[in-house]
Amino acid sequence: MDALELVKARRSIRKFKSDPIPDQVINEILEAASWAPSHRNSQPWEFAEIGPQTRASLNQLYRKVMEESVLPNPDLLPPVRQGILSLIQDFGGAPYMVAVLSRPPQDQLETVENPITVGVAVQNMCLVAWDRGVGSVWLSIGINPAARQILQVKEGYQVVAVLAMGYPEMIPPAPPRDSYQNRISNLP
Ligand SMILES: Cc1cc2nc3c(=O)[nH]c(=O)nc-3n(C[C@H](O)[C@H](O)[C@H](O)COP(=O)(O)O)c2cc1C
Repeated sequence: MDALELVKARRSIRKFKSDPIPDQVINEILEAASWAPSHRNSQPWEFAEIGPQTRASLNQLYRKVMEESVLPNPDLLPPVRQGILSLIQDFGGAPYMVAVLSRPPQDQLETVENPITVGVAVQNMCLVAWDRGVGSVWLSIGINPAARQILQVKEGYQVVAVLAMGYPEMIPPAPPRDSYQNRISNLP
């Protein structure tokens, strides 16, 4: 697929088929992360594949957070609510979950740039996954202190993303984007 088409076609998926992702495809998705650019080619990413026990605890926490602080909001847009209602049930049935971490920074530059470059790696993963027919959703739950404990995150590491992945059961319409033309300033 053309790169721009791929970037535009990728969607966040919150409901998955139960079909497993073949190991070879998972390896390609992880390999894609390794090819992200990073300052001094430092490659500050690490992956924690999430097994059933960790996943159950994480889902319990996710459900609690959503039920207490997000779902009660009456202004929640219906597709957002629908997505959350799917995710609180075992992360939408995603057959594969992985946390993507950035290593502890050694200086000020790394404090800023480690999580940024890991974010780039995560996007690589989501795009290659989509190209292989695999959907994903990037979850913020990893910033929650209780989630860090569940994920056994060592001190100094940052959880940049928890990814739930699998073949899409439902592909939502693209949420609208503001035109880049509204975001440009021209410097002399
Ligand atoms: C840093 C980051 C955090 C996100 N956290 C969540 C999340 O916690 N739950 C969720 O359902 N989607 C999450 N998303 C997905 C966004 O909601 C989604 O990318 C956005 O609505 C645009 O939709 P699209 O990805 O289908 O284009 C996150 C995305 C990013 C990049």
